[in-house]
Amino acid sequence: MKEKMIRLNVNGEIYETRVDVAVTLAEFLRDDLGLTGTKIGCNEGECGACTVIYNGKPVNSCLVTAAETDGGEVLTIEGLAGEELHPLQQAFLDAGAVQCGFCTPGMIMSAKAILDQNPHPTREYIRKNMEGNICRCTGYNRIIDSIMLAAERL
Ligand code: FES
Ligand code: FES
Repeated sequence: MKEKMIRLNVNGEIYETRVDVAVTLAEFLRDDLGLTGTKIGCNEGECGACTVIYNGKPVNSCLVTAAETDGGEVLTIEGLAGEELHPLQQAFLDAGAVQCGFCTPGMIMSAKAILDQNPHPTREYIRKNMEGNICRCTGYNRIIDSIMLAAERL
């Protein structure tokens, strides 16, 4: 097993640790840091359940190794809320966009990346930019409703 020392900012906290170079960022977050809000679905870049924001951009954390993120900054769903839920989290609840919830953390992180880039997106823009996030429960309309709602509130 080959290891590498990494220094990584996760949700504002610095972690300096050795990682197996084969371990993905998703596994590292969940197994080493206990941040289990990031979900692993397909584990091959197809479902978006593992989406986190890495250096300001949404990434599928199952496709990146923890070793590759050395020196970077990661934001996970756990880092989003302050004293209160983040407006996106609240909007997902208010608009009924959460059913089983498995896709929700990844959806919300992708939505955050969209609103960071485009604070007033159209439904079409959201739909296009959320194509990598799969939900088996909601049919997507309520997810888009909630992102529109969060955009209004933000
Ligand atoms: S678990 Fe990473 S894209 Fe599905
Ligand atoms: S709420 Fe169940 S997969 Fe999206």
